Parts: sequence; structure tokens; C-alpha cells
Amino acid sequence: MTKILTKHFDEPRLHELETYRRLGGYEALQKARAMAPAAVTAEVKKSNLRGLGGAGFPVGMKWETVPPEDKVPGPRYVVVNADESEPGCFKDRVLLTRAPHQLLEGLLIAAHAVGAKETFIFLRGEYQNQYDILEKAVQEADAAGWTKAASISLMRGAGAYISGLDTALLETMEGKKAWPRQPPPFPTVAGLMGKPTVVNNVETLSMLPFILREGGEVFAKIGSARNGGTVLFSVSGHVEKPGVYEVPMGSKLRDVLALAGGVRGGRRLKAVIPGGTSMPPLVEKDLDVALDFDAVRAAGTFLGAGGMIVLDESADAVAVAHNIERFLSHESCGQCTPCREGAAWLERILERLLRGGGVPEDLDNLKRVGENITGKVICALGDTVGVVARAWLGKFPDDFKAKIPRGNS
Ligand SMILES: Cc1cc2nc3c(=O)[nH]c(=O)nc-3n(C[C@H](O)[C@H](O)[C@H](O)COP(=O)(O)O)c2cc1C
Repeated sequence: MTKILTKHFDEPRLHELETYRRLGGYEALQKARAMAPAAVTAEVKKSNLRGLGGAGFPVGMKWETVPPEDKVPGPRYVVVNADESEPGCFKDRVLLTRAPHQLLEGLLIAAHAVGAKETFIFLRGEYQNQYDILEKAVQEADAAGWTKAASISLMRGAGAYISGLDTALLETMEGKKAWPRQPPPFPTVAGLMGKPTVVNNVETLSMLPFILREGGEVFAKIGSARNGGTVLFSVSGHVEKPGVYEVPMGSKLRDVLALAGGVRGGRRLKAVIPGGTSMPPLVEKDLDVALDFDAVRAAGTFLGAGGMIVLDESADAVAVAHNIERFLSHESCGQCTPCREGAAWLERILERLLRGGGVPEDLDNLKRVGENITGKVICALGDTVGVVARAWLGKFPDDFKAKIPRGNS
């Protein structure tokens, strides 16, 4: 199967510059720097690379929204989103650990394309090991002269899930509370310190060396329509072989499950969360869904950041929904009232159901409260608060009804 990001993962010292260079590393950057910035962006547009941090936004199109220097003079920045706090996602951690120079090369390619002289990597605070690896890799890149045209600085988060949302991340970098901004303007127009800023995910940027080396068309052909290249899935939960798997965009759900050894102990599949806990689940009848941004959306959920959580028949949908809403309630930044209050209400209703003290109105209340959150808040965290409980109730109503004792009706 075609591998792009993990192709050289068998190399023992891939994280070191010497090994990365021996395998052709930084040649794509040299090639990019010999091209006009607009030509680099055009190649990325041709590749159909979509943002792999969750939203799936076309990368070349995002870069094109950075205003030209004559319209908005002064610095522009590229920021790597390495916050990776979505439960179920651990693929960026693997990329940072095993192939830091692949990311740095991609980052410097992006910097050339958008005219940034300064770049930043915003790293999840808990990733101490990855911080040490990145720090060493940046030192190596500095010493080799790769960062003369654009510097790379590391910044660390302090453990808030919301800081992974691009506008909240920029607030955090500015030393403020991580409250999402209400776009427009989008970060590419007014981002870090009010300057044009491209925020891209670790996996997204790590794809760029391949795209520049092999050409956008080759990359586009590997994936499915409008979804170029490959994608990493962090597979966890009730499977035989949890881990990170790289597959072409558009691969079937059943194929990714097979790579992960299938459902543990030969049990029956109950649900698969395709993109991280915020996404509604797929079920057994969806095994042939093609895993790309558009097809998964057509199946009623999101590819997200590829955090695939597999649940077998022993899982209880109420316990799952409670676990996720509890997390979201804890992580709600509190800026929008419907999310701040509603998440806590949903958590409490689900807790009551779980304890066996549910009443029939609880099911309607889960729907009603959810409907009053989604679409009425600034950011996608709030939107998902309103969706999760409804999604699990919609797919597994019997699990919820079973939690309402007869005497309570
Ligand atoms: C609550 C929330 C958390 C997010 N966390 C991350 C994250 O940890 N890493 C990431 O790359 N994107 C995260 N995103 C998506 C970013 O806002 C943004 O879309 C992404 O960094 C853009 O990069 P991409 O286009 O390369 O995917 C999150 C979004 C939301 C709503």
C-alpha cells in the first residue's frame, strides 16, 4: 500500500538530520525555494491536499487567502498546530517523534509559499518527549543553514483542548486566555498579533516534501476525488492491534479495521468513531464507507483528525456519550453561554441515566438541549457539545431507554 509519511519509519535514526538527508530530505525545500512562491501554492492546489487537523479545508486555497505584501505589508507567519488534544488522536505524536525533519521541511516550504520569515510550532504541553526531539531537530536545521530564510520557534501549550482550535491557539500564543475568535477576519488575514497567519496541522505540513518532490498530480492520484494523498488513522479501542495506520484517502472503513487486526476477540462491531471523540459514530452497515472528507460527511459524520475509536458490542452508548460530554463540559472555555451551561446540563442528564435514575423526559431533554447549543456558539467545540449526545441517542436508542427504570415512567 502507498506510504508517504511513514515510508521510512523502519529507518532506526530517521529523527536525525543525517539519516533524513541520506533519504533525500530537504531536497524538496531546495526545489521549492528555486520556484516562485505562487508556483509552490499552485502545486499544492493541484495535489488536492486537505487540512488533516480536523476541518479538511483545501490547503492551497487557504494559503491563497493570505493577502499580498503590497496590500498588507509587514510580517506574515506560519504556525504549526501540534496541540493534538482530541481524544483518540495520536498520529501527530508519532510524526513528531519519528520524523521531525519531515515536518520542518514541510513548514519551511509553506513559509516560502506565503512569504513568512518567522514560523512557530505550537506543541501540546504534555508532549515533553516530542519537545526534546523537536528542539534537537530545529538546532540541527539551524546549524545546517535551512532556517536562514525563515526561523522556527517552539511554543508549548498548557493543557487546554480548546487551544487546538486555530483562533484560540493564536490567543494562547499572544499570552491571553484561549477564547476562540469570531471570524471573519480569518487568521490568514489577521492572525498572530493581527498579522496574516497560516495555521496548519503537523500531518498536513508533513505531506509537503512529497508533493514538491513528486508533483501535485502524483499526490492527487493516490487519493480519491478532491481528497489527495494518504491519511493517518490513530486506531484505538476494541481492536487487536491499536496503532497508527497510513492509507490512501478513500480507503474503506473495513480495510482500516482489518489493518488494526479487526474487532478484538472476534466480537461484533458496535460503533466506530472515525475522527476523534467529537464526531458522531458509524456502525456496522457503514463498513464500506470510503474514508475521505466528503464520503464520511455524506455518511453523517466527519473524518476529523483520523482519531478512530472502535467499540465492540460490549460498549454502552450512554456511557460513551457521558464520557465524551463530560470531557467537552470540562474543556468548554466558557465564552458562549449555550456551550458553558448546556454541556454541564447534558453531562448531568447522562450521569443520571447512567446511575439508573433516568426519567422518560431525559431523552427529549438531551435532544432539546443539544439543539439549543449547536449553531448558537462561536466555535466547533460548542457545536459538537450539542451533537454528541443526540448522535449516540439517535444510533442506539435502546441503550438509552434501558437506563430508565420502569418505576420512573
Ligand atoms: C476544539 C477544537 C480543537 C482542535 N484541535 C486541533 C489540534 O489539536 N490540532 C490541529 O491541527 N487542529 C485542531 N483543530 C482544528 C484547527 O482549528 C484548524 O482547523 C487546523 O489547525 C488547521 O490546520 P489544517 O488545515 O492543516 O488541518 C481543532 C478544532 C477545534 C474546534
